[in-house]
Amino acid sequence: MALNRYPRRAKLIGAGTLQIKEPMRDADPGHGAQIYAQSCAACHSRDGLGQRAQDGAGYQFPPLWGPDSFNNGGGMSRLLTAAAYATHNMPIGTTFDAPC
Ligand code: HEC
Repeated sequence: MALNRYPRRAKLIGAGTLQIKEPMRDADPGHGAQIYAQSCAACHSRDGLGQRAQDGAGYQFPPLWGPDSFNNGGGMSRLLTAAAYATHNMPIGTTFDAPC
């Protein structure tokens, strides 16, 4: 069984989160709420608590906040990290080479 299919420290295309240019303005929670309602709530639900999988095991669409949401380890609770992730990956189907 070949466990070492990639060279050590190989840089894999699409791994990690690409950066975004830091905006030179404050965050705008009102505009964010509008975008969330238009582009995110259909999957992550209006209350942001996600949608459980039909068999009850885990989530079909993960919660973005609340008790079952991501932990602090990945940095998703940081505004710029979350913005970079969403820009390059959300809505689902968005890809890093064609960000929204
Ligand atoms: C069509 C459904 C859909 C829409 C619309 C959508 N998402 Fe997602 N989102 C998903 C799915 C499915 C995942 C899990 C992806 C995975 O695990 O690879 C996800 C994951 C995420 C995550 C990571 C959560 C975690 O636990 O790490 C964030 C943050 C996120 N979405 C934010 C957004 C934002 C912000 C929007 C709106 C701009 C949005 N999503 C729109 C389906 C959607």
